[in-house]
Amino acid sequence: MNWYRIKTSFIAMKQLAKLPKEDKQASIDAYEFFQRMQAGEETKTEDETKAVADYYKVLSDILSIFDVEKLYIPPQLDESEGLYGNQLLIEQAVLKKMNLENPGKSHLLDMGCGRGRISHHFATLTGGQVSGYNIDSHQIESAIDWARECEMSDRLHFKVGNHHEPLEYESGTFDGCYSFGAVWPFFKKEELDDHAREMYRVLKPGARYSCSEYLLTPHFDWNNEEHVTLHKAFLPLLAATHSMYPADVCAALERAGFKILLSAPSEGVAWPLCNQKRDLVSMGRRVVRALEAIRVLPPWVEESLDLLQKSGEAWTAAEKAKIADLNWRIVAEKPLA
Ligand SMILES: C[S@@+](CC[C@H](N)C(=O)[O-])C[C@H]1O[C@@H](n2cnc3c(N)ncnc32)[C@H](O)[C@@H]1O
Repeated sequence: MNWYRIKTSFIAMKQLAKLPKEDKQASIDAYEFFQRMQAGEETKTEDETKAVADYYKVLSDILSIFDVEKLYIPPQLDESEGLYGNQLLIEQAVLKKMNLENPGKSHLLDMGCGRGRISHHFATLTGGQVSGYNIDSHQIESAIDWARECEMSDRLHFKVGNHHEPLEYESGTFDGCYSFGAVWPFFKKEELDDHAREMYRVLKPGARYSCSEYLLTPHFDWNNEEHVTLHKAFLPLLAATHSMYPADVCAALERAGFKILLSAPSEGVAWPLCNQKRDLVSMGRRVVRALEAIRVLPPWVEESLDLLQKSGEAWTAAEKAKIADLNWRIVAEKPLA
């Protein structure tokens, strides 16, 4: 483990230790909200979004302790690399699909940018600018701090933003936009059109959207009891609120005016990397228990880690049955005017 990762784990523990009481309570309420959602309660999008923001505020620190600072599990493209190395590989692949004409002059949009570490990677690869937004101000603060520390604040721009609101960018600003597990899992089907139209609006003509996103595969059948049971069991792993089919997302993108260039399963499986992390979390649970005992962490953290581990097992089964994909690829282009 290198120095950066040790430092990240340490900072995450420090953040958790000084988390204000109301943030802790909000994350407990969010956790209970998701449990009720799981049990079938009808919920409003604004309440889901609030719960997601409150939950991620704490989850992003917990997962940073376990070296998952970029909050997604990539496909295993290279067996000799771990989770981080494979994240770099899939990020390079997503960037390549944007087919940038002039990378050094490009301005990209990172939707649901988390702590901005993918934006940082992209800006480093292109030499251009990246803007990112995220619902959780805590992750945005980390993104801004990191950009400053790397002396890249002139090329990395972060702010709080919500997929469910009009995007706060001028029309025709971006040479490309992308997302990693951060957009479609937070939408009800009837809400897809609004966001697809906003993506279309902020892109320049000829620009592309490229992603690696959690989606159900066309084999998933809501009338199949086994599929539905697995889905219920693996969803907590993703801290997602909804599961869309690629066809629904692509149809919304097409209605917004995009041309779909690719909609395809991931190029590698994610479950071996999920299992590796599960083992690490399993070892780290002793630390979590100790932090809970001295009231640094709320008591549900251990419970949620337990849930994460169980969800991991369900995920492996679902992915092997090819009913869900953590890294479905979509490439869509805004036609030249
Ligand atoms: C599974 S993580 C994806 C990881 C992220 N792309 C990264 O760079 O680490 C999902 C992300 O989506 C963000 N998110 C969820 N709902 C959102 C919304 N309505 N608007 C903006 N961001 C949202 C979460 O805060 C979280 O950072």
